[in-house]
Amino acid sequence: MPSTGELDQRHIWHPFTQMRDWSREEPLVIDRAEGTDLIDADGRRYIDGVSSLWCNIHGHRHPMIDRAVHAQVDRIAHSTLLGLTHAPAAELAARLVEIAPPGLTRVFYSDSGSSAIEVALKMAFQYWQQRGGQHVRRTRFVCLRDAYHGDTLGAVSVGGIELFHGAYGPLLFESHAVEPGDAAELDRVLDHHGEEIAAVIVEPLVQGAAGIRVQPPGYLRRVREACDRHGTFLICDEVATGFGRTGTMFACEQERVAPDFLCLGKGLTGGYMPLAATLTTERVHDGFLGAHEDYRTFFHGHTFTGNPLACAAALASLEVFEHEHTLLRLQPKIRLLHERLGPVAAMPEVAEVRGRGMMVGIDLGEHDPALRIGYRVALEARERGAIIRPLGDVIVLMPALAISKPDLVRLVEITADAIQAAVAGAYGEAASPVPAALAA
Ligand SMILES: Cc1ncc(COP(=O)(O)O)c(C=O)c1O
Repeated sequence: MPSTGELDQRHIWHPFTQMRDWSREEPLVIDRAEGTDLIDADGRRYIDGVSSLWCNIHGHRHPMIDRAVHAQVDRIAHSTLLGLTHAPAAELAARLVEIAPPGLTRVFYSDSGSSAIEVALKMAFQYWQQRGGQHVRRTRFVCLRDAYHGDTLGAVSVGGIELFHGAYGPLLFESHAVEPGDAAELDRVLDHHGEEIAAVIVEPLVQGAAGIRVQPPGYLRRVREACDRHGTFLICDEVATGFGRTGTMFACEQERVAPDFLCLGKGLTGGYMPLAATLTTERVHDGFLGAHEDYRTFFHGHTFTGNPLACAAALASLEVFEHEHTLLRLQPKIRLLHERLGPVAAMPEVAEVRGRGMMVGIDLGEHDPALRIGYRVALEARERGAIIRPLGDVIVLMPALAISKPDLVRLVEITADAIQAAVAGAYGEAASPVPAALAA
């Protein structure tokens, strides 16, 4: 019987991966997990430093979420929301409306962050088409430079990461890209094109895949105000920032902003299962009402939309937030994390440390891409007991909110150590020791 690694290398095409490189390495096989540790097939433990691609919240195998999923399996694993309903989806929708910014009363489920974005874009577009009159001109979107909203073609059309998106240019619709943080530029674009804009889409407070880029305070509020002045919608993509990542349940809350569309994914199920949601207002919802034969229906849906197992996990995750006072207990961890990152920012190998809450980017500056510095750092970190995944030469730390303080400190130490070793290795120099201030 071939090993897992052999089967993988024979048959799996991995996401965001140069498969020639992949085929030359022994894959790391994750077998199980405990809390915020991943455990490989040989029993070695690693801190899950990017919370399994930014989605795990309360740790792996949380008893409350496990129990909820088991209980749901005993009832039914899947039934469709096309023409039927079920309790987990209905109860979760009600809970999401309770915790979301005011005015978001309608929940449309899907199964990935990208799909949640497609739903928001299509709903915004169709809403204006159905309003009629001069509103039918609202066919374009404004997005931020370096934005990342997922990999489906609509999401890519409002994305701006040349490396990921450049190749697909001829397949995309055109959007207006503005500089993140520059409210005046947004005003200018809306002054010129406001009547053609269906919506402005932003990742609120922090642009994740752009390299954990933090927007200046007050920017999101000004974006909301600009949208209001021009009568257009605001889509907030909280796929990455939602569920406590920036220190509050949703990033929007920090600037008291209520968007017209709120896109959720990743942490929605505590990181257990693929589930996403697009929340919107009664106004948008009512814009689709009409007689059957008017065909104002939102003709969109996925097989696993609102999957009961995933909804049960999401309900349990929200219960854990309350039961464990997750957001309250997060605050001292955020302070500790940023305190420990001070000395990292001062390392000669580090150009800049950026972050908000539990989202951190350690920018190693410009390196020859062939050196693959970020990737080397991840390998060095793995040797030292942490799994991290870089964005190019930006090292991302995004542990689960449940990570313990000692593990948080150890994650920062391992990362600092790994950066030194990787940079020294890449340039053929001897590694220098970790700065004393980083020692626990
Ligand atoms: C802000 C943001 N939006 C959307 C997505 C896409 O989510 P998914 O990978 O679940 O399609 C991501 C994924 O990283 C993201 O960070």
